[in-house]
Amino acid sequence: MAQADIGIIGGSGLYRMDALTDIEEVTVETPFGEPSDAFICGKLDGTPVVFLARHGRGHRLLPTELPFQANIYGMKSLGVKYLISASAVGSLKEEVKPVDMVIPDQFIDRTKNRTATFFGEGIVAHIAFGDPVCKNLATVLGDAVESLNLEGVTLHRGGTYVCMEGPAFSTKAESHLYRSWGATVIGMTNLTEAKLAREAEIAYATLAMATDYDCWHPDHDSVTVEMVIGNLQKNAVNAQRVIQDVVCRLTENPPESEAHSALKYAVFTPLDTAP
Ligand code: ADE
Repeated sequence: MAQADIGIIGGSGLYRMDALTDIEEVTVETPFGEPSDAFICGKLDGTPVVFLARHGRGHRLLPTELPFQANIYGMKSLGVKYLISASAVGSLKEEVKPVDMVIPDQFIDRTKNRTATFFGEGIVAHIAFGDPVCKNLATVLGDAVESLNLEGVTLHRGGTYVCMEGPAFSTKAESHLYRSWGATVIGMTNLTEAKLAREAEIAYATLAMATDYDCWHPDHDSVTVEMVIGNLQKNAVNAQRVIQDVVCRLTENPPESEAHSALKYAVFTPLDTAP
């Protein structure tokens, strides 16, 4: 099976990487069922990478329906050590305008209906998650964005991503509540991925692209799917440029990551009693 150190998960609007060469579609069988789609293995400027369309090509899966465990399991079995998630988000702050990029460093969990662990069924483990994003990977990602000087795009390093269940967008009361918590952006997927990636000892960072002001902003219409897709299509070219640049940087200088040893002190169950 193809192997790559770098994985990319593409969210709404980003279903393929145009610059990929030597493409091979790989279907991975997992104990957690089928991943969202085939893994697209290929090379970006000579570096092996794996791409997965989070919602499937053709956008078939709701956030709640996503096979998060299978997706991360698949990335792990393809050798991924660094995972970049390109995702559409709503902005909860005036200064984060649609088409801006945010690299969050914190998450708030507002999901209700999904499994966000590989553990259980006889094996108990608690990973450290105080810093849910790999700082070094986030720095490289930010450097890549900055170096490209993308027209009309402001980069915001750091910030809190509220991960809601969906599929309906937030009410105004919820949106104002998240703003009162100081949150920066809102989406429906990245916290779950970040937790599973950490359990799988994969360094994870999010390239969040604002598509709307959710529904709190008095001068902007409430978010609609049309808005999200419209803006993310504009951003898809930018996102691919960022990913290409970050892959070059990671190839030249693969950063250390605490995520790579996340399980060292996490497993409670003595291994000789585990099933
Ligand atoms: N994805 C893009 N915009 C969003 C929003 N306003 N709320 C939740 N997820 C989103």
